[in-house]
Amino acid sequence: MKKHRILGAVAAAGVIALLATGCGRGGTAEPAASDGADTGGQGQIVGVAMPTQQSERWIADGANVQSQLEELGYTVDLQYANDDIPTQVSQIENMISSGAEALIIASIDGTTLTDVLAQAGDAGIPVIAYDRLINGSPNVDYYTTFDNYQVGVQQATSLLTGLGVLDESGERTDEAGPFNIELFAGSPDDNNATFFWNGAMDTLQPLIDEGVLEVPSGQVEFEQAAILRWLPETAQERMENILTVIGDTRLDGVLSPYDGLSIGIISALTSGGYSTDALPVITGQDAEVGSVQSIIAGEQYSTIFKDTRLLAEQAVAMVDALLSGEEPEVNDTETYDNGELIVPSYLLESTIVTVDNYEEVLIESGYYDEGDL
Ligand code: BGC
Repeated sequence: MKKHRILGAVAAAGVIALLATGCGRGGTAEPAASDGADTGGQGQIVGVAMPTQQSERWIADGANVQSQLEELGYTVDLQYANDDIPTQVSQIENMISSGAEALIIASIDGTTLTDVLAQAGDAGIPVIAYDRLINGSPNVDYYTTFDNYQVGVQQATSLLTGLGVLDESGERTDEAGPFNIELFAGSPDDNNATFFWNGAMDTLQPLIDEGVLEVPSGQVEFEQAAILRWLPETAQERMENILTVIGDTRLDGVLSPYDGLSIGIISALTSGGYSTDALPVITGQDAEVGSVQSIIAGEQYSTIFKDTRLLAEQAVAMVDALLSGEEPEVNDTETYDNGELIVPSYLLESTIVTVDNYEEVLIESGYYDEGDL
C-alpha cells in the first residue's frame, strides 16, 4: 500500500513541478503562427474535454489545444475529468449548455459518451475525437490521432532491438534466445489499447512461435495483460504477481505500452530483487519526463514519442475548418470504425526514442529543454 502512495506522490510531484515551470515543457509550444487564412474564432466557444492531469502528456495536450485555439480567437472551455467517467459526461453536458460551438474530446471510456453526444448532435455541434476514438456514437465528426497500430509495432520493435534480436536497421540478427518476456497492455476501455497490442503482438507472435521469445507467466491474452485506466499502481501489482508466479526465472524484457506503467513495472522489479543496472529491456510510450530520465539513467530502454504539439495543431485545424464552413483535411478514411461510422481521421507518425536519439528527437525539436531532463 505504502509503495503505491509513494508512486502516486512522485507522479503528482512531477505534474506539479511541470505546472510550476509554466507547463512550458512537455512540448507546450508557442501557438503556430496563423498562415494568414481567414481564421476567425471571434470568441466562439470550443469545449475541450481531457481525461486526466495525472499524466504529463494530457496536460501538454490540453495546454497546446487551448493556446492554439486562443491564438485563432476562440474562447476555450478546457476541462479535466480526473479519469472519472460521470465527471467527463457532465463536463461535456455543461459545455453544450454553456454555448460551445465545437467539442474536442479525449475520452476516458470511448463507449460512454453516446447520450451526451446525441445532445451535441441535436444542437448541431461538431465533435472531434482527440487521440482516442469515441465508439458507438454517430455523432463523431472527425478523429485525429497517431497511427496507433504502428505505435504498437514500434514498441515491439524496440523491445526486440533492446534484446538484440533485431539490429539497428530492424534486420533479424542470429540471436536465437530464448528470451523471457512479459506483456502489458493498456486500458481495455481505450480503443487505442487494442491497436497498440495488435501492432505489438503481430510483431512478437512469430518469434514466440519460433521459441525465440518465451512468456514465462503464460499470460499472452490482451484481457490478461490489460491495465484498467492505465494505472501505474495496477501495473506494479500485476508485475509483482507475475514475479511471484515465475519464481527464479529471470526476465529479459517487458512490453509496456505507456511510460506510467513502465514506472510501476520498474518499481515491482526493483523491489523484487532486480538491480537498476540490470533491468530487463522495458518499453514505454509518451516520452514523459520521468521516463526519459529513466532512459538516460539506463533503467527504461525505450519510449515512443508522440508530438502533442502536432496533434493539437490537427485538432485545432479541424475545428477551425468546420466552424469556417470548410472541410477538414484527413488522411485515413478506412481504419477507425466506431460501430456507427468510419470516422474520417488524420493520423500522425510517432518515433521510437532510446538513449541514442533522445537529444535529437526531444531536445533539438524543442519539445523539452535540456534542463528538463
Ligand atoms: C494514448 C497514449 C497514452 C495512454 C495513457 C492512450 O490513449 O494514446 O499516448 O499513453 O492513453 O494515457
